[in-house]
Amino acid sequence: MVDKLLHEEHVATLDIVNKLEVRIGTGKWDRRLDASKATDKLLLEELLAMMDTEVHHHLPFEEKELFPRLDEFGFEDVTNMLFDEHEAIRSLVSSLRPLTADALATGFAADKWTIFYGLLADLASLVIFHIQKEEMGVISRLPMLLGQEGCQELAARYGGILNRPS
Ligand SMILES: [Fe+2]
Ligand SMILES: [Fe+2]
Repeated sequence: MVDKLLHEEHVATLDIVNKLEVRIGTGKWDRRLDASKATDKLLLEELLAMMDTEVHHHLPFEEKELFPRLDEFGFEDVTNMLFDEHEAIRSLVSSLRPLTADALATGFAADKWTIFYGLLADLASLVIFHIQKEEMGVISRLPMLLGQEGCQELAARYGGILNRPS
């Protein structure tokens, strides 16, 4: 069921955001990650994987497969707003991803860390806000709108995308 698949990815995304907030701190986000430590390295790798899943699978699937189905039910205002938020997420990821990959290779110099945590804080708040909106406004309504068959059909299409090399 597509509602379950997307919900699970939302939960996984929120989980990595939450782990980063706990590790770095929610105030100034100023407890610098150290990529030479195994636990921090894992967090950075998880962040990288989360950004790649978002940009290569989750967002394109929602835009190409889910939003057009929702538009058939008059959701254009909602899907246009969600699409704009996707663009903002992609823009932040395009700056944050190279910094994250770089940090995994060479660590964080002070100036890079400042930019990194500024971008990460922006991405975290945007993603949390976006997922809340999708969960409440879209995901919870999918079984009613698309029916079990429609949800299964979309899940199968998403499975096809996930199994395709990106
Ligand atoms: Fe989305
Ligand atoms: Fe989503």
